[in-house]
Amino acid sequence: MTQDLTAFIAGLPKAELHLHIEGSLEPEQMFEFAQRNGVTLPFDSVEAIRAAYAFSNLQDFLDIYYAGAGVLLTKADFHDLAMAYFRRLAADGGRHAEIFFDPQAHTDRGVPFSVVADGLLSAMDEAEKTLGVTSKLILCFLRHLDEDAAFETLKQAEPYLDRIAGVGLDSSEVGHPPSKFARVFKAAADKGLKIVAHAGEEGPPEYVWEALDLLAVDRIDHGNRALEDEALTKRLVVEGKTLTVCPLSNLKLCVVGDLTDHPMKRMLDLGLKATVNSDDPAYFGGYLNDNWLAVAKATNLTRDDLITLAKNSFTGSFLSKDQIAEHMAAIDAYAAAN
Ligand code: HPA
Ligand code: ZN
Repeated sequence: MTQDLTAFIAGLPKAELHLHIEGSLEPEQMFEFAQRNGVTLPFDSVEAIRAAYAFSNLQDFLDIYYAGAGVLLTKADFHDLAMAYFRRLAADGGRHAEIFFDPQAHTDRGVPFSVVADGLLSAMDEAEKTLGVTSKLILCFLRHLDEDAAFETLKQAEPYLDRIAGVGLDSSEVGHPPSKFARVFKAAADKGLKIVAHAGEEGPPEYVWEALDLLAVDRIDHGNRALEDEALTKRLVVEGKTLTVCPLSNLKLCVVGDLTDHPMKRMLDLGLKATVNSDDPAYFGGYLNDNWLAVAKATNLTRDDLITLAKNSFTGSFLSKDQIAEHMAAIDAYAAAN
């Protein structure tokens, strides 16, 4: 490393492929939105909110995440939320993001799909114009809800399909396997949408097999537990399937006990197309570069590993071939100069 690790990571062109926009809601913003919308929060200070962010598993976190999302009511809320995220991403040297949103977390509270989508899309347009950051939108189905609800959400998305890149699957994993949503993902694929799914975060390797075989995913979100299954790992390598890995999330949700035990280095050494992502940065204690730096230090990533991770973030994206080629050239130029 010819320069400080922090500076090298900061300057490296990179994309974020696993980011729940509702998970970028900072406690300060939660107060601000609650105040302007007349919502009462069960916390009386930013410190009290932060103190509540101690999770022992995914469900602990999700309970607080859905409660927090309750302050988001207007198009301006979704716009401001997303712009704050894009500013952070640009400051981290992020050039592109593929952001998840959970429409059912809002429509189930009476907030129309159009309010959510219009707010996010206007921020995406503004971020491209003012920050030079490109982005794509991925609609996630909540897997703890039923198939009918997912189909209803896909129907609500119909007027926006030209601006939605893909569909994903998130929320409580164990007990809600990908097979539960095979038909709705088939319907989404038939509409030309890309397919991703959270699998192997807490759920077993079988859920990753299902995501591949039954949902025909383009990427796996997380995928940590795939490493428990040698044949599955081999398949992911052979197919060059991108894994959107989230180190600080894995630590905060106790998917790993300590970051030094994180499988990132092992994934790269096995030839898996891993990427680094922040998942829900406001809840897990770090944005994109915080994740890069923490996992690089804890698992002794080399300079070549970091360059591979940066390249994986673009080759695993849903950008066009030409756009990907431009980003690869920018990474090569950066690596040559640093
Ligand atoms: N896992 C599953 N569902 C989620 C997450 C996550 O990390 N964040 C927001 N919804
Ligand atoms: Zn996630």
